[in-house]
Amino acid sequence: MNVETHVAAAMEGISAAARLLADGGLVALPTETVYGLGADALDPVACAKIFEAKDRPLSDPLIVHIPSIDWMGRLAVASEPARLLAEHFWPGPLTLVLPRREIVPDLVTAGQETVAVRMSSHPVFQAVLEAFGKPVAAPSANRFGRISPTCAADVLAELGGRIPLVLDGGPCAHGIESTIVLVDGDGLHILRNGPVTEEELAAFAPVHGSVAGISAPGGLLSHYAPRTPMRIGEAVPKPNFGFLSWQCTGDGFARVEHLSKTQDLREAAANLYGAMRRLDEAGLDGIIAEPVPETGLGAAIMERLRKASAR
Ligand code: TXA
Ligand code: MG
Repeated sequence: MNVETHVAAAMEGISAAARLLADGGLVALPTETVYGLGADALDPVACAKIFEAKDRPLSDPLIVHIPSIDWMGRLAVASEPARLLAEHFWPGPLTLVLPRREIVPDLVTAGQETVAVRMSSHPVFQAVLEAFGKPVAAPSANRFGRISPTCAADVLAELGGRIPLVLDGGPCAHGIESTIVLVDGDGLHILRNGPVTEEELAAFAPVHGSVAGISAPGGLLSHYAPRTPMRIGEAVPKPNFGFLSWQCTGDGFARVEHLSKTQDLREAAANLYGAMRRLDEAGLDGIIAEPVPETGLGAAIMERLRKASAR
């Protein structure tokens, strides 16, 4: 794998992106959560290139991004609660795991009987889907197990030389990946916390814990990981350590990144991966991450800090 990676200003690159997808190629695109690496979801050979570019194991299924809500019923069996959730939260940062239909390639579902579906609200992503006219499978545009990219430069750092095109749509609004929810007969099971919170979901159906045997990204203990060892803890400085701050000043640390100077969880989520990346690139011996309150979006942030610090 050695291709020249072009970065295109988003609006100019839309037709080039749609053409690449139609030719069975890959393109990195902005979404409202993180950047995704897209391919034609109904073409298994195109999707295989995603696994190759990311060094991703074939056992890890892909999320299918749909151009319009009617595609949900073509790809999956959508129950009443699934339809209600889709109508309320789409387009937006919610992924629904539903029983699949035959049309979805096995490679996309990793052989499972379910498929993960979402509809992005990002205008660039929507414009590409509209031009392409079909669903696009897109995981986060990072190498497997690494920090998800929240701007075009992050995608280049992860996949430059491996993919032909990145559409630059600026920084992602949410900065963390979509909430993943399995919808079944007894209600909702959150497989990955994200921008749509448990509190918001509970208004639609009972929310249960995750389900044994169902793998989400989350199935893996270590994920979203910087290369520098990281742990969650209090602001006790050590030589050549970095500090990922929620509210302490981090005095005495070699480098400090603040998630949000006003302790705003949305801002913290949007800054999280960029801050982790900067600390990771600073040549530190370790990183200490200050815990954030585990309410609302804080649950999603803490889930990622725990995974980033698992070894
Ligand atoms: O915000 C997001 O969801 C981003 C943007 C690009 O849309 N995508 C994303 O994809 O985070 P990815 O592949 O990095 O994480 C999605 C995770 C996969 O790791 C997989 O474990 C889980 O979703 N997943 C996909 N299909 C599934 C299924 N049928 N059942 C359970 N989990 C599934
Ligand atoms: Mg990912």
